[in-house]
Amino acid sequence: MCGIMGYVGHRSALPILLDGLRRLEYRGYDSAGVAVLNDGHIEVRKTAGKLAQLTEITSGPGLLHGTVGIGHTRWATHGLPTDANAHPHSDCGGRVVVIHNGIIENFLPLKEELQAQGHTFRSDTDTEVIAHLIEAELYGHEQPGTREPPRPLGGLGAERGNGGTREHGEGRDPRPEARSPSIPLEEAVRRAVQHTRGAYAIVVLCSDQPDRIVAVRQISPLIIGLGKGETILASDIPALLSHTRDVLVIEDGEMAVMTASGATVERLDGATVAKQPLRITWDAEMAEKGGYPHFMLKEIHEQPRALQETMMGRLDAPGAPELDGVSYSPEFVRGLRKLWITACGTAYHAGLVGRWVVEHWAKIPVEPELASELRYRDALIDPQTLTVAISQSGETADTLAAAREARKRGTRLAAITNVVGSTLSREADDVLYVRAGPEIAVASSKAYITMLVALQMLALDLAVRRGTVTPPRVAHIIQAMKALPGKAQEVLLRESEVASLAARLADREHMFFIGRGLDYAVAQEGSLKLKEISYLHSEALAAGELKHGTLALVTPGVPVFALVTQRHVYEKTLSNIQEVKARGGLVIAVAYDRDTEITKHTEVVLRIPDTLDDLAPVLAIIPLQLFAYYVARERGNDIDQPRNLAKSVTVE
Ligand code: M6R
Repeated sequence: MCGIMGYVGHRSALPILLDGLRRLEYRGYDSAGVAVLNDGHIEVRKTAGKLAQLTEITSGPGLLHGTVGIGHTRWATHGLPTDANAHPHSDCGGRVVVIHNGIIENFLPLKEELQAQGHTFRSDTDTEVIAHLIEAELYGHEQPGTREPPRPLGGLGAERGNGGTREHGEGRDPRPEARSPSIPLEEAVRRAVQHTRGAYAIVVLCSDQPDRIVAVRQISPLIIGLGKGETILASDIPALLSHTRDVLVIEDGEMAVMTASGATVERLDGATVAKQPLRITWDAEMAEKGGYPHFMLKEIHEQPRALQETMMGRLDAPGAPELDGVSYSPEFVRGLRKLWITACGTAYHAGLVGRWVVEHWAKIPVEPELASELRYRDALIDPQTLTVAISQSGETADTLAAAREARKRGTRLAAITNVVGSTLSREADDVLYVRAGPEIAVASSKAYITMLVALQMLALDLAVRRGTVTPPRVAHIIQAMKALPGKAQEVLLRESEVASLAARLADREHMFFIGRGLDYAVAQEGSLKLKEISYLHSEALAAGELKHGTLALVTPGVPVFALVTQRHVYEKTLSNIQEVKARGGLVIAVAYDRDTEITKHTEVVLRIPDTLDDLAPVLAIIPLQLFAYYVARERGNDIDQPRNLAKSVTVE
């Protein structure tokens, strides 16, 4: 998730780009950059760090005064958040610059091929291949060995200083001797993207065709704003609203060519598209949240897309997951005696789901432990163990301390995290990024659900390497995992049922969540979500434990959510439901669509599509997230910033 801006018009581009990026900074803020056409040359300024840093290095009179430019605020997926990896990225000659949101899955073979053809790369990003692919289409390749290499950053072509990087088209790479582009930029872009696989939005500027910006959308969002004598592009509507309310929404597989007088849109196969502008009527605050009243609701709705991104490029091989960033050896996996899982809060609840799938599929004993407990425990961690530390932020103090303590005892450390370059990711031996995109609401939703899928992929990888699952079963699990984004979308379509239930129950003071096995793990997360934002008291129990004490609190009308997705304990949980009903409790089941039995036992059923029981948590949590959200809304709470809490807990 990155923020993208583009401007072609009559005003100075830089302030417009910076203002738009400020409104898009929620999409990513680990580095930022701009490229502006200045007197026929492209000038690039980019830096690691927040937008304020970019603003500082671009301030000053006389700099970057051109009226055409592009800008980017980054949320790193490939390569650490450094100056060099910040966008825009240039071709060898500095005449083509590219910004990008998304992932080019096949960037590595493309990069190798381009390097063999003589292209020199300056970053670790997947994005840079696009600039070189377009360069090759526009100007042709040089023969390897015949070209003078571009000057390194820090030389004539680039200057470092004040924490940022400057690149100038002028004087950067003198060859190929002022060769002119052989085709229009849009044709070069069309041909270049045909080599790529993945989900992305890309935006391209070329100094040899300075009147236009070309943009392509393949899944990641792109909006074009139509002004008077100016055209502005952004990855989200809020960045456009101070300039225009008339927008074109670019769809998947479409390419737009923007000039100062407007934009033409065509499909990548060349077919023209007649697009009618939309008039945006939202206010600015609504727009920053993509039309949702709260970030939490927006993030809940982003879950299908986030799940897709987590799995992208990792489940394409038929026999086993391919986990980038995970490099344990076959011998290590065969010799593994135990897995430790450590985390806090919601991430810990994801770890409880991880325990189940690792034990069930890979047959390795797993001990999950809260990070704040593990660090002070005499835990018997040794070199034949793998410790998996899970953290959305990768900065949670207790999780870092527990991971370091485990490491001291000789374990191998794997991190599951959302933030590229976070402390946890830097300290771990193996890193599996969940790719959820920035999560703004304090109450975690899309990070949790993507952690579940990351843990499932890790468990499957361990199982395949240890030979504890058969190839047909692996194929079956992978197929079911790939169906999860679509099924998550189906659950979201049932939102209004959950909202009505929330309206009915919002005045209660206590609620309970019960389940067995994986359902118990989800019950714990559902209960945390509810108390965190609604300020209601709630408790989660292993369903079988209810009668050992807590049943005393179940009186007529007390809501009890019962999760019943685990077939091997289905009848046992039904008995626990009966215990609640016998005390007058109001049971709300979370059950599969195919479960017809459950209506004989409960008054209210929240349905989820059928899936493998081992994968059910990914779907079962969604109605509970929505329920917590709507109860909090009914109660008038500050949903995105609940009292007493913080997004990143960097103190013990
Ligand atoms: O960034 P982390 O995943 O390490 O954060 C851990 C917890 O603080 C976090 O999950 C917290 O429980 C959430 N606010 C719950 O929604």
